[in-house]
Amino acid sequence: MSAVKCAVVGVGMMGAKHAEILASSMAAELVVCCDIDLEAAVRVPPGCPFTTDMEEALDWPELDAVFIATPQQHHLLAVESAMKRNLSIFLEKPIADTLKAADSIVDMSRRYASTLVVGHMYRFDPRFRAVALAAQGGQLGNLVHVSVRLFTPDFEGQALARRTTLANENAIHAIDTLHWIAGDVERVYGEASSTGVVGQGLPDSIVATVRFRSGAVGSLQVDWALPSGSGVQSVDDVFVVGSGGVCWIDGRDSGVAVLRNNHPANFPSPLWYEGPGGRPSGLYQLEDDYFLAAIGSRAPWPISLEEARAAVAVGTAIDMSIAQRRPVELSELAR
Ligand SMILES: NC(=O)c1ccc[n+]([C@@H]2O[C@H](COP(=O)([O-])OP(=O)(O)OC[C@H]3O[C@@H](n4cnc5c(N)ncnc54)[C@H](O)[C@@H]3O)[C@@H](O)[C@H]2O)c1
Repeated sequence: MSAVKCAVVGVGMMGAKHAEILASSMAAELVVCCDIDLEAAVRVPPGCPFTTDMEEALDWPELDAVFIATPQQHHLLAVESAMKRNLSIFLEKPIADTLKAADSIVDMSRRYASTLVVGHMYRFDPRFRAVALAAQGGQLGNLVHVSVRLFTPDFEGQALARRTTLANENAIHAIDTLHWIAGDVERVYGEASSTGVVGQGLPDSIVATVRFRSGAVGSLQVDWALPSGSGVQSVDDVFVVGSGGVCWIDGRDSGVAVLRNNHPANFPSPLWYEGPGGRPSGLYQLEDDYFLAAIGSRAPWPISLEEARAAVAVGTAIDMSIAQRRPVELSELAR
């Protein structure tokens, strides 16, 4: 099969990773990168053309696919432009910044023939898959309760808290994990702390309780406020209790550390690391490889657009609950 001709739109933190993966992939040919910020050109792999005009990038001769890694406020516009050109689309999570935009994208996907997938990378994580598949497959009996804790460093919150909500940006992973494990959510109640870590009046962390339609209950605890000087860089913990078994992920710094005298701590990440031969490897590379293979073959993607939309709905309900200081039923957000 010939290499899939790809563009990357939005060459920031995530777009630069996708560009590097594609530039080193045998299955892809990175033909153009686009970002409205001229300075993003420094993050483009050597030799790849760069433009600040998305329309020019999407009209690139013989383009097959686009990786959209712009902030989620731009996802709807970018997806629409790509779908009109019948391009295959890898869209970074979350599917959109609002439920209305998520609905528009899901509706559009029914009208156009393009392949569209949303990159929820934990769906490719062997730890998360093992737990979710055990729970879904009935191996744990009836689910009783589930908890997910995802923490990231304070500099992330400081960079992002003014442009997006913690629920839409980071908690979306915890929400999707809860949904994947325990099914549809009926009601949420959220509380947030704003102690000034990420900015005055901005949320540092969210704690939410979740009632599932199945009768199980759950909780999520998410921050973007881990003190970066503390030595801890990430926490991904999950615990599931069923009537017939339990399973968990102990995910502090992915369970691996390289600590040396007088050197900064090194916590190698399964998301992104230098693989054999120097090739970028990890979950982001795995999801990009799956997407490239799925084009044309319509191979199944581990998260449907409806599930990606459901995660945005739960995040919206949590934000509503925090703002209105009351439990919110998901039915209040029905289409
Ligand atoms: N899967 C993950 O683990 C993960 C991690 C971080 C971010 N994300 C997601 O990736 C997306 C991008 O996040 P990021 O952290 O890379 O942000 P970022 O700010 O680092 O990068 C976004 C880039 O998009 C560019 N941009 C903005 N508007 C544009 C437009 N109209 N046309 C072209 N370029 C435009 C910006 O100039 C910037 O370079 C978000 O949806 C975010 O939620 C996913």
